[in-house]
Amino acid sequence: MDKEIEVRNICCIGAGYVGGPTMAMIAKKCPHIKVNVVDVDENRIAAWNSNDLAKLPVFEPGLEEIIASQRNINLFFSNDIDNAIKNADMVFICVNTPTKTKGLGAGYACDLKYVELCARRVSRNAHGHTVVVEKSTLPVRTAKTIKEILSSANISKDKSKINKSFSILSNPEFLAEGTAINDLEKPDRVLIGGDEVFAINALRKIYLNWVHEDKILSTNLWSSELSKLSANAFLASRISSINSLSALCEKTGADIKEVSLAIGTDSRIGSKFLKAGPGFGGSCFKKDILNLIYICRHFGLIEVANYWEKVIEINEWQKNRISQLIVRKLFGTITDKKILILGYSYKANTNDTRESPAKNIINDLLVEGAEITIHDPQVREEKIIKDLGEPSNNQNESSFNKWIYSKNLDDSFDNVDAVIILTEWDLYKNLNWESIYKKVRKPAWIFDTRLVVNKELAIKAGFRFWQLGGSHND
Ligand code: NAD
Ligand code: UGA
Repeated sequence: MDKEIEVRNICCIGAGYVGGPTMAMIAKKCPHIKVNVVDVDENRIAAWNSNDLAKLPVFEPGLEEIIASQRNINLFFSNDIDNAIKNADMVFICVNTPTKTKGLGAGYACDLKYVELCARRVSRNAHGHTVVVEKSTLPVRTAKTIKEILSSANISKDKSKINKSFSILSNPEFLAEGTAINDLEKPDRVLIGGDEVFAINALRKIYLNWVHEDKILSTNLWSSELSKLSANAFLASRISSINSLSALCEKTGADIKEVSLAIGTDSRIGSKFLKAGPGFGGSCFKKDILNLIYICRHFGLIEVANYWEKVIEINEWQKNRISQLIVRKLFGTITDKKILILGYSYKANTNDTRESPAKNIINDLLVEGAEITIHDPQVREEKIIKDLGEPSNNQNESSFNKWIYSKNLDDSFDNVDAVIILTEWDLYKNLNWESIYKKVRKPAWIFDTRLVVNKELAIKAGFRFWQLGGSHND
């Protein structure tokens, strides 16, 4: 088809961590385009429409301002999916693509049921020519499935209904949570995969409203789909590399912060993504690598699959070794010891807890019988209950679920035996350890898995101190 499309109306299916912020940015930069973000989840849409901006379902620095300026101007959130599709020139599919939990490929393959449902709905409701954009992260060659579903729209007995056609593009999202607005506003690159130039140009034209043309890359569909999985696998492998070395530092007297600095100043290596920590979390790294492994196995590339599997294995090992080490340092038993956890989200500046290493570490400590207090500046108690189950703090019960949620950080230190920092929120970086030491039960430990505590100040205050990848850990 040799034509030009002017996009005036966008529908985004999926109002999550990607759909919400991404569409907010398009609405801000393209006042001439009406953007409808739709979702099956009524509560989520109600939260996006909340007058109280603190209740938006996604916490992301800078997001509230954009929602305040664009919402109900050219950015709309609703559950009316069919109408939004009907009116759209371009539909973004931005739904979740979790790992399959049962059936063929369970534990590895990506569950495409939500994507497929979207494609069927688009195929039913679209009018005229519609550009369908894969924004969700998808296995390579998913566009083929979507194309097949969309093309079935024209197989109708009623000839008068055959008035629709589709182009399909892959436009994976590279934003990271916590910095999403900045990442969207100043992306390193925008990737558009497709085989129809006019459709690629229609999407490119949208991004050109704020992204320099040199940063907009076009590839074929399969390269685009695979690049997204590959980028996440590469990033995660850097974290597993540095985390594996953090353990070696602890054995040898080297310090992981110094090692990161020393290797990161090599311009070929680069300084980003070299922070050792309790293991990578977030909804995507693990699921995307599992998916990559599944695809490699499918094509008989067993060595390649095994290579990537190691990245996940080291990540699981890092979480386990931290909880085991904490128990050992606290004299081998933590039953009824009071432990304060600082940070529950998988990284700072997000309220997202998916795959947070905090969950695994806390669960291990609960099983050992510890009494856990959890503080996080953005994660709400209801979310933690969903992960850990209802707390049961009856002192007489030998229950494994002795945790409480702390609303006030200052009050959380009373009589604790250990403080464990699991998320690098700014407010944990400059705590007054001297005054905190007066409140804790002695001997008291600090376990710093995010390298944010000043070791000298903590030790001077009286604490026993362990820092991930540190040289002085005993
Ligand atoms: P999310 O779970 O926050 O949001 C997905 C939304 O889609 C949910 O609100 C859900 O109700 C909705 N949904 C599911 N099926 C639907 C359907 N059939 N019709 C309408 N709505 C439906 O997920 P997310 O974090 O926004 O991720 C979405 C995709 O983007 C995933 O493929 C993910 O891998 C990818 N991605 C995520 C990030 C990130 O930082 N979270 C970054 C880049 C890419
Ligand atoms: C990641 C990628 O960075 C994004 O490019 C991608 O779009 C996104 O996944 C996705 O596809 O979902 P995100 O998971 O939001 O983004 O956050 P990251 O900053 O990548 O952090 C992921 C995890 O790695 C966090 O648990 C973080 O604490 C950890 N991490 C990160 C480290 O332990 N060390 C580092 O140096 C960097």
